[in-house]
Amino acid sequence: MTIIFRVESVAEIDSTNDALKRRAAAGAEEGLVLRAGRQLAGRGRRGRGWVSEPGNLYVSILLRPAKAPIEAATLGFVAAMAIGNMVRVLVPVPVTLKWPNDVLVDGGKVSGILLESGGVSGGRVDWLVLGMGLNLRHHPADTLYPTTDLIAAGGPDLAPAQALDLLLAEFQPLYERWLADGFAALRDQWLAHGAGLGQRIVARLGPEEVAGVFAGIDPDGTLALTLPNGDTRRIAAGDIFFAAA
Ligand code: BTN
Repeated sequence: MTIIFRVESVAEIDSTNDALKRRAAAGAEEGLVLRAGRQLAGRGRRGRGWVSEPGNLYVSILLRPAKAPIEAATLGFVAAMAIGNMVRVLVPVPVTLKWPNDVLVDGGKVSGILLESGGVSGGRVDWLVLGMGLNLRHHPADTLYPTTDLIAAGGPDLAPAQALDLLLAEFQPLYERWLADGFAALRDQWLAHGAGLGQRIVARLGPEEVAGVFAGIDPDGTLALTLPNGDTRRIAAGDIFFAAA
């Protein structure tokens, strides 16, 4: 199945995710892509905000895949792979994927993904809103992690609309493969660029912190952490931090 994207651009909005959730509830068809020049209430993962001043890419895509919620949740990995592939050919430094859905350029976070879903019927999600922020011209300071942007990393000065075209071109084939065969078929590609594999990490799960070695990810995207006693702990959601070298 080929997905057709229909791009709408607005100068300013609260959050492209929130706007597409409203459109999804009103029955909009999948493939609708909403890009905003600026967001007044951009949202990040785990209840955090997403600073959204003009110059960077802020976009959400409405999708209606025939997938159960657990499998639908793996789309964030696919989106990160698409961003990673797009950015890798533009910058002269390493581009890696940080579990769960971040893209790192020379170790700095360059993008974020917020995947939201609604309404399960017949075991399948009714809609997914895939929100992506990509730092093109500036990046926030004072964040939980080091951050960067395309220009700071030695890449070209892309206009957000140009960046969106490049991103959709990378995302489309990956999305269609994911639709047909699931994340299991793409997992090796993710692992080929995964940051911190085989290294000591700390996983922050709300108030709890667990240290161990990042052993890999399962076909459903769960992170496998080898604990100091040799046991494996599987982590479905959280933030990871790499130990200082
Ligand atoms: C993260 O915390 O890493 C995820 C950030 C996701 C930001 C994007 S920008 C476009 C879309 N609209 C939002 O309000 N958030 C996402």
